[in-house]
Amino acid sequence: MFVTFEGIEGTGKTTQIQKVKKYFESRGKEVFLTLEPGGSRVGQELRKMLLHVDNKDLTPITELFLYLADRAQHIAQVIRPELEAGKVVLCDRFADSTIVYQGYGRGLDTKILQQFNEVAVDGLWPDLTVILDIDPELGLKRATLRNIEDGKAEEEGRFEAEHISFHKRIREGYLTWAALNRDRIKVADASSTPDEVFKRIKDIIDTRFFTAD
Ligand code: TMP
Repeated sequence: MFVTFEGIEGTGKTTQIQKVKKYFESRGKEVFLTLEPGGSRVGQELRKMLLHVDNKDLTPITELFLYLADRAQHIAQVIRPELEAGKVVLCDRFADSTIVYQGYGRGLDTKILQQFNEVAVDGLWPDLTVILDIDPELGLKRATLRNIEDGKAEEEGRFEAEHISFHKRIREGYLTWAALNRDRIKVADASSTPDEVFKRIKDIIDTRFFTAD
């Protein structure tokens, strides 16, 4: 089982992924947690380049190819082997981030992005993708605060530094993309307490993987 989590900055993805991990484990599954960008050794270097505030001069196309390089390496070296070892793989962001950030956000053609994604994922699409949906003003406040608390405002702040209008486009982009991919992508309202949000995610997971139980 391969499950990915998506959403704008500050939706509480990290907290929810931890809860989902515990849930799968309670159902007897071995879970492998990973993320993009940065899920492989080389990917960790790419992550630094992609997220540092100093790199505001990256062109949209350069940014795109760095994310795709990260994904190709991640699939080949980490995700595919872990799935083949029988684990549930939970990934914080994946190919849909490219469609939404580089497509709806930066204005690149989503059809072409999807073709690039096909090359990068090499046939391995998630069984389920959960989008955590939240008002961008609230999400951005949470994310900026978290980066400051973690001392990562510069190291990881390139996207948080984007104008609110960018984040609004991202949110709308996720909802549009989800509507075009209803079978795989489910949207969960992430504006309430972590436990309430988790209950929504758990229902989605149960329906997708455990309904026959
Ligand atoms: P995060 O790990 O804190 O979520 O930061 C990753 C950032 O990278 C986030 O702002 C979204 C962005 N991103 C893209 O623009 N395209 C991609 O393909 C991926 C995976 C992430």
